[in-house]
Formats: sequence, C-alpha cells, structure tokens
Amino acid sequence: MSKLTVDGKSVEVPQDKRLVLALMDEAKIDQLHACGGNARCTTCRVEFVSGEPERMTQAEIDVLTARGLISTPGLRLSCQIVCDHDMEVKAISRLAGSGRADAGKRPTDEITPPAVWKDK
Ligand code: FES
Repeated sequence: MSKLTVDGKSVEVPQDKRLVLALMDEAKIDQLHACGGNARCTTCRVEFVSGEPERMTQAEIDVLTARGLISTPGLRLSCQIVCDHDMEVKAISRLAGSGRADAGKRPTDEITPPAVWKDK
C-alpha cells in the first residue's frame, strides 16, 4: 500500500495501481481520462505537490513534448504512473466544469501502451 493525497485528502492505494485508477477508485474524484489511459489526450493530467516519480514512460514524454507541456513543473499524466510510493497531487483536470459528457472510458489495469520506462 502507498498513500495518495489529493487536494489535501489522503487515502491508501494498492501497491502499483495506476494513478488514474486510484484517483477514480480510492480518492473518488471525477478525474478526466478522455483517451482511456493511452497517453494521447493529456486530460488525465495532475500537478504533483510531492513524490513526483523520477521515471516516465516514453509515451508520456512523447505526448507532453508534443503538447508543449514537458517543462511544466509537476505536471504529469496519471495514466502513465503507478502508485509505488507516497504521492501528493492537485486534481487539475476534472469532469466538473469541463463541458464534457463523461470522464472517458475506464483505463485498463495495466499501463497502455506497454510501458517503456525512461529517467525523467
Ligand atoms: S493521456 Fe489520455 S487518459 Fe492519460
């Protein structure tokens, strides 16, 4: 188990659970994930307060670079992160107020596309 703190509220999360799923299931927030967790939309973005992972998937690097977001401090894609240590984030991309009809198709349990890990 690791601890996930979202906007100041902490919950316990099963080891290595995808962060996007922990935001939905444990933190119970209306996190957007429009592309279904495939590193294409960036709507699953969060802002790290502490515990930002040192590694990134190649897919996360590619889409954040393409969108000009790679240098934004603390901004990461929750669909490309697993909960393997304590983390604190701000929920900055939620269904409420987005104008979208729904948050997106539920992402699978495993990171997609298959994770190729790189150092940040
Ligand atoms: S990039 Fe679309 S859900 Fe993560």
